[in-house]
Amino acid sequence: MNKSKILGAMAVTIAATLVFTSCKDKRSTGWQYAPNMYEHIAFEYDQKNPNFRDGKTSQLPPPGTVPIGFTRFSYPNTRDGYEQASLAVKNPLKNTPAVYAEGKVLFMHMCSPCHGPEGQGNGEVVQHGYPPPPSYSKGQSSRGGAMKDLTDGKIFHTLTYGVNAMGSYASQLSPEERWKVIMYVHHLQTL
Ligand code: HEC
Repeated sequence: MNKSKILGAMAVTIAATLVFTSCKDKRSTGWQYAPNMYEHIAFEYDQKNPNFRDGKTSQLPPPGTVPIGFTRFSYPNTRDGYEQASLAVKNPLKNTPAVYAEGKVLFMHMCSPCHGPEGQGNGEVVQHGYPPPPSYSKGQSSRGGAMKDLTDGKIFHTLTYGVNAMGSYASQLSPEERWKVIMYVHHLQTL
């Protein structure tokens, strides 16, 4: 074989290789630099995982887990739980101007649509037909006693579990936010 034939054969081989490799995967982005940076060796959260009994990577926290910064509220959603919370649970926050101001904002956003801006039970949705809650200062609680005498614990219990036509706020307000709102409700109880 002479020199030009060898060169010709090489050129054909290289050209064919280029044609075949470039057509192999149209979606390929080509060479990857340091692929471990994006194709990491850890399991993706939605990947199968042989290390766990249920074969999933995403695991639920063990039952009873409390997130950091949360205090357990272990009073059940019963009349007894409500009364026990009333005796034992106290607002852990100091009534500073900042806390009071934040409580007012939360109240205006989350509670005033039903309870009214002054807590008189005449909020916007009540004016459109929703069952009116009793006034914080002049009404009677459906669970007995005057609304103005509702304690920290009773209000925290109510916000955590809800009562009748009022839903639970446990998923909307963190315990700290609930305590801030309660600070403002105590003010409305005096109006
Ligand atoms: C969808 C309307 C609605 C919203 C929003 C709402 N409530 Fe109520 N709330 C009610 C109704 C209705 C009652 C009366 C329930 C009953 O006793 O039958 C009530 C009752 C209460 C009581 C009295 C519970 C008791 O022990 O008698 C408190 C305290 C209270 N709400 C606080 C709040 C606070 C604080 C918020 C905001 C985080 C809020 N509510 C948001 C409708 C609402």
